[in-house]
Amino acid sequence: MNHLIAPSMLSADFANLQKDIEMVNQSEADWFHLDIMDGMFVPNISFGIPVIEAINKHAKKPLDVHLMIEDPDRYTELFKKAGADILTVHMEACRHLHRSIQKIHSLDMKAGVSLNPHTPINTLEDIITDLDMVLIMSVNPGFGGQKFIPQSYNKVRQLKQLIKDTGSNAKIEIDGGVSTDNAKELTEAGVDILVAGSFIFKSDDPLKTIKELKQPE
Ligand code: DX5
Ligand code: ZN
Repeated sequence: MNHLIAPSMLSADFANLQKDIEMVNQSEADWFHLDIMDGMFVPNISFGIPVIEAINKHAKKPLDVHLMIEDPDRYTELFKKAGADILTVHMEACRHLHRSIQKIHSLDMKAGVSLNPHTPINTLEDIITDLDMVLIMSVNPGFGGQKFIPQSYNKVRQLKQLIKDTGSNAKIEIDGGVSTDNAKELTEAGVDILVAGSFIFKSDDPLKTIKELKQPE
C-alpha cells in the first residue's frame, strides 16, 4: 500500500483547533493522530476525552489515538465513545497486553501497540498476529519537536521481517522527529504510516508539507 500520513494534533494551535482540523480535512493526510498523555507514563499532560469528542465533530478522517497513559484498559470504552477508530496502547503500560488488545477489538476499534525506543521488537513475537498496527516511537514519548533516533530504522526493518515471518497483517507506524529528511528512508524500510507534528504545523505551508511527506524524494 502507499504510505499514509497522520498529522499529530499535539502541535496544532489549541486556541484555534477547528482551523487546523479543517486544514487536515482538506489536505492529502489520511488520519488524525491524537496524543493522550497522563503525566505518569510520560512527563507531560496533553488533552483528554472532551477534546477528542470536539475534534471528532469536525474531523472527516479516522482518529488514530495514541495512548501514553498507565493502565489504559480503564478508559477503553470512553475512547471508543469519544470517536477513536484506532486505539494504540504502550507495551510498557500494559500488564496484560493480550487482554488490552482483546478489549479494544471487542469494541470494534483497530488495535495498535507502541514500543518506546528502548523496547526491543522481539517483545512482540507472541502478540504480533493479534495486532492491526505497531507504532514505533522514534523519540522518547512525551513531547513534540524532538530529534529522530536513528536506531529506529533498524527497528522498522526487524519489525517488517517479523510481520513477514508470522503472516501478520499489522501495519507499521512511526512517530517522532519525522520530516522530509527521513520520510523516504522510512517508507523504504517498511513504514506504512508516518506521524508528523511539528514538521507539519510549524511549517509555512502545512498543506504543501503534507503533500511532500506523501511523495518523499
Ligand atoms: C510524542 C508524540 C508524537 C508527537 C510527534 O510523544 O507521540 O505524536 O506529537 O511530534 P513531532 O513530529 O514534532 O516529533
Ligand atoms: Zn503520538
